[in-house]
Amino acid sequence: MTYPGSRIVSLGHYQPSKILTNDDLAAMVDTSDEWIRTRVGIQTRRIAESDETVADMAAAAAEKALAASGLTPADIDTVVVATCSSADRSPNVACRVADRLGIPSPAAYDINTACSGFCYGLATVDHAIRAGASQRALVIGAEKLSAITDWTDRSTCVIFGDAAGAAVVVPAETPQSVGIGPVVWGSDPERSHAVRIEGWQPFIQQEGQQVFRWATTQLAPIAQEACRRAGVDPSELAGFVPHQANLRIIEAIARKLGAPNAVIARDIVESGNTSAASIPVALSKIIERREIPTGAPVLLFGFGGGLTYAGQVIRCP
Ligand code: UT7
Repeated sequence: MTYPGSRIVSLGHYQPSKILTNDDLAAMVDTSDEWIRTRVGIQTRRIAESDETVADMAAAAAEKALAASGLTPADIDTVVVATCSSADRSPNVACRVADRLGIPSPAAYDINTACSGFCYGLATVDHAIRAGASQRALVIGAEKLSAITDWTDRSTCVIFGDAAGAAVVVPAETPQSVGIGPVVWGSDPERSHAVRIEGWQPFIQQEGQQVFRWATTQLAPIAQEACRRAGVDPSELAGFVPHQANLRIIEAIARKLGAPNAVIARDIVESGNTSAASIPVALSKIIERREIPTGAPVLLFGFGGGLTYAGQVIRCP
């Protein structure tokens, strides 16, 4: 059976309990609370325990999203995990999550498009539901970036954090109830050197200024295109949830997008940059705080390593 589209019914998020402050970092490397706040906008980030895995965090977020949906593990037929920081190649994180939650036999795959991964995952699930290949899916973004951070490098260690966010996606039975708009996705492979996690025991490295320039000059028109394809004017957006890379990048894209009525996600302040987890975590918190009414249009927009990007307008669950 095919459907006119799909929609998100619920979200959930998980963050480790350990908080790392800017002052903690200033005791480790030559940095300061003032530099981090003004250049990146981060005040705190969460750090996983050494034995806590990407799959642990993904399963914890998925469990919450599933509980909020009213569905049971047996109802889920597809599990997608977006991550770039899982230590293991196989089994993939999606299979581990399915095992933890007792989801009997789902299609289970991981996606690695770094920070845009959640939006890529949401798009592939939306397409699978439209095609009749899936009926009830979990889409998860989960990262343990602390495990691939060089804690002696001040240009990267102040930025990243650990987290997981998850969404339950189901078919929209009628065109009126479609809740996930057309994806606008792509990449800029010529800039692939700008964010790197290379080799077997890697550290995340980046050309910060290059990514900053790219994000603040190239991405707003692509975000506007996602709105155009959904038939939503940016002025009608009730929410804008971009990847939480840097508060200055978020503010710059939001300004150029032109969404004066939108709640802008700024979870980077308390969570840092959590790559593929940043969008579902920020959205889950906005929904928890009831900041956006059910059914209102929200633009999700991921960008990062690859360099890759993807965005779509969703209807707030
Ligand atoms: O999510 C994945 C995609 N990644 C991104 O979106 C990251 C995008 N880029 C950025 O967010 C910013 O470029 C950074 C936050 C990474 C860096 O901020 P910036 O304003 O571009 O700083 P910068 O690299 O131009 O460095 C300015 C100065 C340098 O010192 P000098 O050469 O001017 O003396 C750095 O050495 O700041 C220095 N610096 C620091 N100082 C204190 C770099 N890191 C730090 C630090 N504390 N943590």
